[in-house]
Amino acid sequence: MGTPIKVFSDWVIKGKDEGMAEGHSSSVKNMLENSTKGLSEFSFIDAGCGNGWVVRNIGSNPNCKKAIGVDGSSNMIEKAENLDNKNKYYCSDLMNWSPDKKVDIVHSMEVFYYFESPDKLIKHIHDNWILKGGKLIMGIDYYKENKPSHTWQEDCCITTMKMFAKKDWLTFFKAAGFKNTESWFYGKDGDWNGTLIVSGVK
Ligand SMILES: C[S@@+](CC[C@H](N)C(=O)[O-])C[C@H]1O[C@@H](n2cnc3c(N)ncnc32)[C@H](O)[C@@H]1O
Repeated sequence: MGTPIKVFSDWVIKGKDEGMAEGHSSSVKNMLENSTKGLSEFSFIDAGCGNGWVVRNIGSNPNCKKAIGVDGSSNMIEKAENLDNKNKYYCSDLMNWSPDKKVDIVHSMEVFYYFESPDKLIKHIHDNWILKGGKLIMGIDYYKENKPSHTWQEDCCITTMKMFAKKDWLTFFKAAGFKNTESWFYGKDGDWNGTLIVSGVK
């Protein structure tokens, strides 16, 4: 068993980060369409950005004035920086990091359940990362209603993976102070319940 950061650092060495980006791309597309809808100008943080593929993508949108990626894995951040000299990357545990200036959109795909207390992370992001009127949008595939994901902790040998239901994640968002909370499942296919996407406005 390894910590989430150790396991994903090893994935970079094996090149598995690229397949992960591909696997997440359709859900992320849905999340970005939702979070950027109607905005003529926005700033953006990807929390747990991996190799930076979403930051590079959104950074090329003319309406995006600033795009930042943060990840705890130095291998992921090193790769992101090597591929991108336009946008900004930070290597840090998300719980110990805050931006110099708050942003309009915080996006995060497949990250929050690797935290011992995701409710504390959501509150930290609400209080310290997001402008008033800004949005947090999170996507996860590891959750109670998605039965095929239940073996992942054993399969991936990761020490910390927290399993919650949709209603629990909504409670975390509301308790942190988010308003207009919404949630939906994207990409349902047979047993696979899709990506659970949750959003809220500060
Ligand atoms: C499943 S990957 C998802 C990466 C990226 N969001 C994507 O969709 O390709 C999870 C990422 O979360 C990062 N991570 C896990 N725990 C973290 C923590 N405590 N602080 C910062 N990053 C963390 C890992 O290093 C890894 O890059």
